[in-house]
Amino acid sequence: MKKTLIRPTSLVPNSSTPLVSPIIQSNVYVTKDPSTLDQIYNGKIPGYTYARERHPNSDILAKRINLLEKSKYGFITSSGMSAIAAVLFGICKSGDHVIGGDQLYGRTLRLLKEDLPRFDLKTTLVDTTCYKNVIEAITKKTKLIIIELISNPTLRISDVVNISKVCRKNNILLVVDNTFTTPLTIKPLDLGADVVIHSITKLLAGHSDVTLGYFATNHTKIFNPIYDYSVTTGLTPSPFECWLAERGMNTFIIRFQKCQDNAEKLALWLQNRPEVKNVIYPKLKNHPDKINFKKLFKENGCNMVSFELKGNRSSADKFAKNADLISFAPTLGDVGTTLSHPASSSHRSLGKAQREKMGITEGFFRVSVGLERFEDLKNEFKKGFKNL
Ligand SMILES: Cc1ncc(COP(=O)(O)O)c(C=O)c1O
Repeated sequence: MKKTLIRPTSLVPNSSTPLVSPIIQSNVYVTKDPSTLDQIYNGKIPGYTYARERHPNSDILAKRINLLEKSKYGFITSSGMSAIAAVLFGICKSGDHVIGGDQLYGRTLRLLKEDLPRFDLKTTLVDTTCYKNVIEAITKKTKLIIIELISNPTLRISDVVNISKVCRKNNILLVVDNTFTTPLTIKPLDLGADVVIHSITKLLAGHSDVTLGYFATNHTKIFNPIYDYSVTTGLTPSPFECWLAERGMNTFIIRFQKCQDNAEKLALWLQNRPEVKNVIYPKLKNHPDKINFKKLFKENGCNMVSFELKGNRSSADKFAKNADLISFAPTLGDVGTTLSHPASSSHRSLGKAQREKMGITEGFFRVSVGLERFEDLKNEFKKGFKNL
């Protein structure tokens, strides 16, 4: 810390370094003179200037995720949604056409359907479980395709390998939101994607105490305009949130492995319960996208399980109330298991008919499986199923 008239004390000099990243909360950085500042801005010497542009805690976190995603240039933003907005608005210009998966996260869908068109950007939503639907939607103006690898909450799997080939052939950028799958299971840039996005809020940070996002690419030509858009519009994060997320990431690998083990056990167990009509989990034999699953997942699964209770809203209400040690909360990726009910939350704005076409009935729940002992989790579900 710089000693000045108003701050007359500085850090005590010492010859050791902290084991844990310090939180550097300063929003501005002091340099010696204008020539040094020039060198920093020109990238000739390392250094920081103003925290909206980047700061040490966001850089440490970005590097951490870059290692997992094997990406060259990554940047942290204030939320998953701000990363998605920065990528779309940083890359596209008026008149461009964007293709998106028709089962993207609700706010991403809203951005594509409501916000991009206000800036004269045309959008088409398609089922991305088969690349042929993407081919049909391409126009001369198609600039970018944005997909998720597992859809929420129906857990359908995108045909990303073939979609990536289509993008190459047609000179279209492929953007993949890897929030659900995580880089432990899939590294989209290795599969030919141009940009990878995360809501760090979820599994990467893992403790439901930060809201952050990330985008990364291997090309400066793609990175620079998205970075500039983020800085101009102030989508950058706070140092403290980055620090919390970095701390959460220390246990990400072990958390994810345990959560996906629990999820597989839960899916298999739910399949045999008389109260349950249908279970969706990528590793189950009856999953509709087996071919895409085999290509992408190898021995992995994911921590999300969806299931449909027999009965209607009153059974759903009773189940959520009975299983009161499982949080009923519209999020995912926490250390603890959370339950969400898409018909009353994420998909409430769709009409009943449209929801039911997607298989989202009043008995449909999405479970983000956590780190509990499986026996405890099973017993809580049993408690939930009592007297339905
Ligand atoms: C797949 C996916 N992408 C992006 C987001 C948005 O992330 P955030 O809530 O950090 O803005 C979410 C949020 O649930 C999500 O599930």
